[in-house]
This record gives sequence, structure tokens and C-alpha cells, in this order.
Amino acid sequence: MAISSSQQDSRPLVRQEIAAIAGYIPGEQPQDAGWTKLNTNENPYSPSVNVSKAIATACEGRSLAKYPDPFANQFRTQAADVLGVRPDMILCGNGSDDLLTILVRCYVGAGDAMRVPTPSYILYQTLADIQGVLCDKVAFTDKWLLPESFTSPNTLTGEPVRLVVIPNPNSPSGTLLPPEQLLELAEQLPCPLVVDEAYGDFSESNCLDLVEQSDRIIVTRSMSKSYALAGIRFGFAVAQPAVIEQLAKVKDSYNCDAIAIAAATAAIADQDWLMKNQSSIRATRARLVTQLRQFGFSVVDSQANFVWCTHPEFSHKEIYESLRERSILIRFMAYSGWGDGLRITVGTDAEIDVLLGAIESIMQEKKQ
Ligand SMILES: Cc1ncc(COP(=O)(O)O)c(C=O)c1O
Repeated sequence: MAISSSQQDSRPLVRQEIAAIAGYIPGEQPQDAGWTKLNTNENPYSPSVNVSKAIATACEGRSLAKYPDPFANQFRTQAADVLGVRPDMILCGNGSDDLLTILVRCYVGAGDAMRVPTPSYILYQTLADIQGVLCDKVAFTDKWLLPESFTSPNTLTGEPVRLVVIPNPNSPSGTLLPPEQLLELAEQLPCPLVVDEAYGDFSESNCLDLVEQSDRIIVTRSMSKSYALAGIRFGFAVAQPAVIEQLAKVKDSYNCDAIAIAAATAAIADQDWLMKNQSSIRATRARLVTQLRQFGFSVVDSQANFVWCTHPEFSHKEIYESLRERSILIRFMAYSGWGDGLRITVGTDAEIDVLLGAIESIMQEKKQ
């Protein structure tokens, strides 16, 4: 029976929390050719050649007619071997964003809070909003370190902190907190500490070893950046088996498809590809940093595949817009109460040359 309009009230049909938020806005993804795309930290190189072979095999015969393995055991076995952990310490997801969603749903309930540093990955706030919980954002110091107050009880509302998430290396800064400090932090916290290592393969150290030492530490990893598989959607979490068992209850039944499982397994098996890729990205990153500094930018030392920079004279928004007019995309980021800056993904050497040439000419134009 149809409900007459007099029976309807003025509340939105969706939950209040959803109606109230803008939703996460991902970086621009133009689908036409001709862009120098340095805005969403994708890897500029093709993935291991083994990936396309594995995808072709995954598509043979009736394979795609069946549901995939709900736990992606083929990947877990391979990744466990490469990373030196046990397969039951790994949970796979549809990108590491999926793992972050699972973690928030698993640990943070009504009336609870999660804590994150800021500026950092904006999605954390959105996940808290969707869950209807408080996201307690604690500002990094001006050297991108955690302030003492990071471990203090929630001072805003008194809602108990049930989950802490720290991206390491951080985005947008590319800075890294040492594993010893994160272990110490986990020991002080009343809740699990998620170390979001989406960029961990580009850095000097990581927190994987800490997982054996503490059941409070959960590491998340992405195949999007360091394995050049952003188009596939695959990520994973590493934690002690009892933690993985709980997280598995929250995931969708078949959260990773057969093609993604095959591709990610082939990619992580090819560690020679990873090593070569890491050294190319690090070398280009060093060149980009040096050159930006010569142009007068202040550039934070980065342990990731992007750099964060500010300029004392020029408007960041205008530089971003002038580059966009030249079909070069970088990321302009503004954080309330913190200021703004530019985040630039490390592309190929040729792409970075195009970017640097454009920045130089924009700066000359603006000086005239
Ligand atoms: C800090 C951080 N964590 C997680 C992700 C999500 O990565 P993905 O879902 O592609 O694995 C990103 C993506 O940009 C990120 O910057």
C-alpha cells in the first residue's frame, strides 16, 4: 500500500549521519589520455609481466563462473612466504581501504571514538562519519612528529578511544615514525594501533616485525602503490591470528575477486620487480626534491612515492591550477587550521621533467 505524503516526516530517508556528510572525494581520475598524472600516488610503471599472465590464466575456461576463494589463500600463502609471517596472520581486502573499513566496523561502536593524527589520510574521518563515531584528530607537531597529547585520553568528549590509526609513511608528508616509537605507543594505548603502511614498501623501515611482538598492532598494506596495481584493488592486513579471526567476521563474504587474487599473488611473488621499482622511484624522488628546493620550495624529506612541498612566495592553489591548465595533475591539499600545500607523486623521470619544466615557466610568469 502506498504511504501518503501526510504520513511521511521531513527526515531524510538515509541515516542522519550519511545525510550530514559530503562523502569521501577521491583524487581526480581523468579517463582521457594526455595527462601527466601525479595526483594520486599511483606507480608510474607497468606491473610485473607475470601479472597479466596470471590474469589470463584466471580467466580461462569456467574459472570466472565460480565464486573466488573467500580468504584468497593463494595470496596468503605467497605473501606469508615473502613477508616471513604465517598465512593465518593475513586478511585480504578489496584495496587497503576495505581493510580500514573492516577495522573501523570491527572496533569502534556507537558512543566510541577513534584517534588519528592530522594532516593525514582524509578517508579516516569519512569512515568514522559513516560509522557514526567521533574521529578525534590530533595535530602533528611542525616536524611531523606525534605530540605528547596523542596518548592522552580523549579530551574532547570523554568518549573512549577504541582504535588508533597512523599512516606510516604519512600522507601527505611522506614522513616516517620509527617502529620502536610505534611499539611504545601501542603499549600505552588502551586499544589496537593500526599502522597504515600503504606506502611502506618505499620506506627504510616498517612495522611488520612488531606484529609478532604485540597483539595490539595491525599493519595494513596496499598493492596499489608499490606493486603498480591500483586498478586491481587489493590490499591486506597483517596481525596475530586471533585478531584476523575477528576481522574476518566483518568482511564481505567474497571481498576479493578471482582476477585480483591472481594478479596480487603474481605481483608479490616477483620481488625482483619490486626491488627495481623501489630503486627507480627513490632515485627520481631524490631528483625531484633537489630540484624543487632549487626553485625555492620547502620540501619535507619523504619516505614514500610522493613529496609534500610549500612555497614561501607563490599561492599553492595557483600553482596547482596553472599546472592543470598544462594538463599536469598534482594534488592541492588544504587542511582546516593547518594551512595548505602541494603533494606531488613521483612519476617517471620523463614525467618529472615535464612537471619541473612547467613549474619553472609558471614561476617565471608569476615573477613578471
Ligand atoms: C595512507 C593511505 N592508506 C590507504 C590508501 C588506500 O589504498 P588502496 O585502497 O588503493 O589499497 C591510500 C590511498 O591513497 C592512502 O594514501
